[in-house]
Amino acid sequence: MSSRLYKSITATEAGKELLDYVFDDKNNWGISADVNSDCLACGGDTYELLAKIIPKNRVVYDFGAAYGFQAWWFRHHRRYIAIDPFDNPFTGETVHFRTDNSIWLKMTAQEFFKKFTIEEDSFAICNYVPDEEAQRLVRENCHNVFNNYVTGGDCKAIFKRGGK
Ligand SMILES: C[S@@+](CC[C@H](N)C(=O)[O-])C[C@H]1O[C@@H](n2cnc3c(N)ncnc32)[C@H](O)[C@@H]1O
Repeated sequence: MSSRLYKSITATEAGKELLDYVFDDKNNWGISADVNSDCLACGGDTYELLAKIIPKNRVVYDFGAAYGFQAWWFRHHRRYIAIDPFDNPFTGETVHFRTDNSIWLKMTAQEFFKKFTIEEDSFAICNYVPDEEAQRLVRENCHNVFNNYVTGGDCKAIFKRGGK
């Protein structure tokens, strides 16, 4: 069954084009081994719900954004800033899913906080990032934070499909 994110992206021509581009093996060899229409983001519907809660005039930082498909939910926010050091192991490059308002910073959270401070009134997300130091830095440096890493017990609920 397709995820709500996949359905929402493919419901528009612009979304379909972006998705086709990222999934094209010429641009991103191997991505289809990592993700498919069932699972474009680890946290299921979490990003969709956050996009509803966070006011549209806020800048959104997404630490550990991976391929960044969830940028789609934030395409009407002031800015979506994805931070992740991830490289495609085969090409050394990764083509991320980029909406018009998104910026990609290829670095760890640790590197980010050495160089930048976050914008006032922004909102930070750190979802399923396994690095505990990165989680701590996000909690300490950002005022409005969603930090989530479930290590056991509730996985079934997280991956429940269909938004019901
Ligand atoms: C399991 S994925 C989660 C992706 C996305 N947040 C989601 O919920 O679908 C974990 C991501 O965290 C990134 N990551 C790991 N350590 C990190 C760090 N120190 N700073 C930023 N990102 C990191 C990895 O590269 C990977 O893309």
